[in-house]
Amino acid sequence: MCGVVAVIGKAEASSLVIEGLKKLEYRGYDSAGIASLDKKKLQVLKSEGKLTNLVNQFDLLISKKSYNDTEIAIGHTRWATHGNVSIENAHPLTSDNKVAVVHNGIIENYASLKKTLISEGYVFSSVTDTEVIPHLFTKYIKQGNDFLESGKLVLKVIKGAFAFIAISVDFPDQLFVSRNSSPIAIGIGDKCNFIGSDAQSIAHLTKRIIYLEDGDYALVKNETLDIFDAQSNIVDRQIIHVNSDIGLINKGGYKHFMKKEMFEQPSIIPQTIGSLFNEDQSININLDKLGFTNKSSLTICAAGTSFYAALIGKYWIEQIADIPVLVDLASEYRYRKPSVFGQTSILVISQSGESLDTLMALRYGKELGLTTTAIVNVTGSTIDREADYSLHTKAGPEIAVASTKSFTSQLIVLFLIAVSLGKKFNNIDANKVNKIKQYLNMLPLALANMLKLEDQIIALSQQIKNSKSVIFLGRGYMYPLALEAALKLKEISYIHAEGFAAGEMKHGPIALIEDGLPVIMFIISDGYEDKSISNLQEAHSRGAKVIVIGDEACLKKASFAEIKIKIPDIDDEFKSLLSPILMAIPAQLLAYHVSRERGTDIDQPRNLAKSVTVE
Ligand code: G6P
Repeated sequence: MCGVVAVIGKAEASSLVIEGLKKLEYRGYDSAGIASLDKKKLQVLKSEGKLTNLVNQFDLLISKKSYNDTEIAIGHTRWATHGNVSIENAHPLTSDNKVAVVHNGIIENYASLKKTLISEGYVFSSVTDTEVIPHLFTKYIKQGNDFLESGKLVLKVIKGAFAFIAISVDFPDQLFVSRNSSPIAIGIGDKCNFIGSDAQSIAHLTKRIIYLEDGDYALVKNETLDIFDAQSNIVDRQIIHVNSDIGLINKGGYKHFMKKEMFEQPSIIPQTIGSLFNEDQSININLDKLGFTNKSSLTICAAGTSFYAALIGKYWIEQIADIPVLVDLASEYRYRKPSVFGQTSILVISQSGESLDTLMALRYGKELGLTTTAIVNVTGSTIDREADYSLHTKAGPEIAVASTKSFTSQLIVLFLIAVSLGKKFNNIDANKVNKIKQYLNMLPLALANMLKLEDQIIALSQQIKNSKSVIFLGRGYMYPLALEAALKLKEISYIHAEGFAAGEMKHGPIALIEDGLPVIMFIISDGYEDKSISNLQEAHSRGAKVIVIGDEACLKKASFAEIKIKIPDIDDEFKSLLSPILMAIPAQLLAYHVSRERGTDIDQPRNLAKSVTVE
């Protein structure tokens, strides 16, 4: 998703901005640009595609001394929403060669504003919603307003979700920044200041960060920072000291971040587990804060992979705690009238903590009078700050767009919520809880053993890399996992993939089966395996290329399958209860290796963004 960065008061600001943009690359983008002020001149550089194109252009101009790297610059990575990927639509967008703006979000009323501005003589060079912002600045500056006043007037007329930064040749020592729903972090330096879409993008410049709150705007100079709230009151926002290692992100010797993140799972999962236990071995989840002083039902909202984690959480909470769980896509929940009858709380799940749909679902839940809890990976993110109660996955920075270690960490939190609720409402006894603790201790080794399936998964990937379509089937816990496996595969390999409940095949999807279509089933002996294998048999009879990834007993029963991958031997109850976490590994490995075989951009797949800050 779009990322913004700015530097003021530090030499070679444009170079520093580019460094910041590199740290935002993981969010996904399709063009990039920078603008800076050289005395009374605006310098703008833009390029389509990867940041290296912009860097090459920049280096060339610097070597020819055609670009002056001064002390004030803004930059942007664009994920196209309004208008195709082109230099014209790339940011910064300018007006009159005097004002430049970088923007993340959507200006919803841009069409009417644009019409008025055109009637007033302003010429638009892009088809973006953003371009109204620099023209509005020009209009208000021409009317005699200073930069701060002009920014305030712009904010009065634009509607939508946005974070933007503006510079103007008329105010060469000032940045105007504003935040409404889209995240903005301001970094405090020594006689210099920095702005970024997240703390990570400016952590190489300072560790002292202020997060603007919704409706805030600020005038930033070298040595001063004036922040105003939505009512234009001057406000103090807390300075947070970010981790010194937040900016140190590397692939650790792996070819892709995704591979590193998959292989980190055995070592990072214990961190999430550890954070959820107190010293006396009790579970460190405050059920009162979660809204469960009494038994009631629970709504969980999320998007993408986090949504599939939510579905698995439903299965666990209903089985282990006997508590009804409703799972909703965040983007749907906020636009319908959900009934909160018998409910006290809403749980949202988000790796980034910035997905706008999920944030809005949380706010909507609050409006409906529910207690809000968030499972987030990024501490200090908007969702983390706005939730009444947060449970953190301790997965560390996840850079690859396709979520892997965050997903399994989210599952750990959901599983322990289920156990905690089950215990509180006497649905499980102390023996069972002790057993579960043993299973959690066994989990890292089990995950490491699952990763050893890699060679077999590589062989499987070679068999399906040229398929036009792939179907995943699952029953019980393996149903949401089938949905997640399909999402993972389509996200990074661009192969059309769908997940279905095994029993649902005969109600429609079976019409899709044709000779050679790969139908993949994750399966373990859970008491329902015979039913699932019958469904698989139906696909086999119609010519599908049946692939089974499961335990030995299941593989024996599915002897007709063309490809069989046996998972390591594990205790039956452990395997059955924690199967979604275990089976996530082959699902992730498969998506990764099919994509690698196909040569796609694994870490930054086309059209996708890591942090989706638009609706
Ligand atoms: C985007 C990504 C998905 C991700 C989803 C939710 O759509 O492409 O991979 O699962 O956002 O992200 P969140 O940060 O809220 O978990």
